[in-house]
Amino acid sequence: MPLLPATPESIERAAQRLRDGGIVAFPTESVYGLGAVVWNTAAVARVFEAKRRPSFDPLIVHVLDRRMLAEVAAEIPPAAETLAERFWPGPLTLIVRKRSAVPGLVTAGLETVAVRMPSHPVARALLESVGEPLAAPSANAFGYLSPTRAQHVTRALGDAVDLVLDGGPTPWGIESTIVAFAPEPTLLRPGAVAVEEIEAAIGPLRRDLSPDRATAPGQLPQHYAPRTPIHVADLTRVPAAERLRSGALTLREPLAGYAAVRVLSAAGDMREAAARFFDALHELDALGLDRIYAEPIEERGLGLAIADRLRRAQGLG
Ligand code: TXA
Ligand code: MG
Repeated sequence: MPLLPATPESIERAAQRLRDGGIVAFPTESVYGLGAVVWNTAAVARVFEAKRRPSFDPLIVHVLDRRMLAEVAAEIPPAAETLAERFWPGPLTLIVRKRSAVPGLVTAGLETVAVRMPSHPVARALLESVGEPLAAPSANAFGYLSPTRAQHVTRALGDAVDLVLDGGPTPWGIESTIVAFAPEPTLLRPGAVAVEEIEAAIGPLRRDLSPDRATAPGQLPQHYAPRTPIHVADLTRVPAAERLRSGALTLREPLAGYAAVRVLSAAGDMREAAARFFDALHELDALGLDRIYAEPIEERGLGLAIADRLRRAQGLG
């Protein structure tokens, strides 16, 4: 499976593979996605297979512009329209009523479709060149840490993917925020657009992050998880002997005694912390340690998305 630096030529080649029914991994501003042309059910089926993703878990459809949006969405409620104008292109996913042309495989049989308009220049150039919407989940194995670098994709998915476009580390490093309209605006997954910003635009959101409902398997209790067991804890109270065989994930301060430490942002900048989060966990997970201890993160702004991923990485939902 070729891993190619994203250039106009490699993007054209990737677009050709997609038009021919291939599956291609590409960078977005949130995380890397594994895309197939939305209408091509054989290609979409390969995406599920490559990720070992259960078919009850619907995919996000990526669109370049309003024309592509109209091909997949039957109706945009007013609050969704407000959010689209304010945050697109960008890391926000809206759940809206689907057009009948969108295959049931993409939406797992739901009458709704998840759509987003990415801002990453490589994602946009690819969409433009393909000329069709791309169904693309995050390009990781189901349940594992999300990919913020092209190497994370090749390590996790290997030969199952036809081509990987390398656009460097993704700028936000955490997945899009997902909002449904049921019909009240409802938060299904906190993500790169802070909930506070969304509420400033359209008023209070209902929260529906419950792990017992299958509306968004990003909501499943065990998700975004490293192979190494991870625990959120007061890192200063972990016994010294335990530290020797453990990694530490901290927000600002490095800590003594751990086998490996990753600091998310020395300046305490949550944007930087979110961008480093999965990357740091990929690194710690690769060291084969007994455990990873993570500092609790305040659930405000981007901290809400990080805390959500930490909870699910522990299998707590
Ligand atoms: O930032 C992102 O959103 C990345 C990039 C590649 O765009 N994609 C991503 O996709 O995170 P994925 O498949 O890992 O997560 C999509 C989430 C899943 O939890 C899925 O259940 C939910 O979106 N979803 C998709 N369609 C849905 C629908 N119709 N109703 C409710 N949830 C839906
Ligand atoms: Mg995912």
